[in-house]
Amino acid sequence: MTYHIKNSEQLTIQEIGVIIKLWENKEWTGMKADDFRQLFKNSEFHLLLDTDGNIKSVLRLNFDFTLKISGNLHSYTEMVGFVSAQKGHGYGSQLLKLSAENVTERDLQVIGFCISDLRPFYEKCKIDILYDKAKKILEQEDDHWISSEDDDILIIHLSEENRNLFKQLDSEKTAYLIQ
Ligand SMILES: CC(C)(COP(=O)(O)OP(=O)(O)OC[C@H]1O[C@@H](n2cnc3c(N)ncnc32)[C@H](O)[C@@H]1OP(=O)(O)O)[C@@H](O)C(=O)NCCC(=O)NCCS
Repeated sequence: MTYHIKNSEQLTIQEIGVIIKLWENKEWTGMKADDFRQLFKNSEFHLLLDTDGNIKSVLRLNFDFTLKISGNLHSYTEMVGFVSAQKGHGYGSQLLKLSAENVTERDLQVIGFCISDLRPFYEKCKIDILYDKAKKILEQEDDHWISSEDDDILIIHLSEENRNLFKQLDSEKTAYLIQ
């Protein structure tokens, strides 16, 4: 098993096809490689590959992620699109560990999100979870703000200052996702 980091231009057409399939997002089914590369030009793909080069697990780092908190803009890196080709074989936990080590070395400020059903997985992987805090991040839908579908914020790597900022989020102090 090997760990690779690629930007969207470095992904092969075949890899893009596999990632789109694994993501199971109807909106992106059948998307052409060039459109994929353009859409995710501000992203980085972390891949766990087997000896034949097949993707066993993938996650995306989205560098285009800004929150407005108490009137101030804060840019973070969002970990998203995390999926394993076969579940329960250890691929996901392996990729998450390697990726967390990588972003820690680079001192990137990285968060992710999850629904409550996935807490046992992230707890097993020893990821710090801010329980129910994702609901305090609001996203714009048409002309109103709605809560995220996720429940928790995952701290992949954050400075103490950013960690405290997220801990303070509550009904009075919400964060707004700037699209
Ligand atoms: C979440 C996901 C990426 C985990 O990858 P994986 O390759 O199946 O994970 P692993 O095999 O490394 O699992 C590590 C441990 O967590 C456990 N685990 C995995 N998924 C779990 C889940 N949904 N709920 C509870 N425990 C889970 C495994 O049983 C394993 O435990 P063990 O070490 O005691 O055997 C994978 O289940 C997946 O692709 N899910 C669909 C997409 C998704 O939900 N992504 C996450 C979005 S936040």
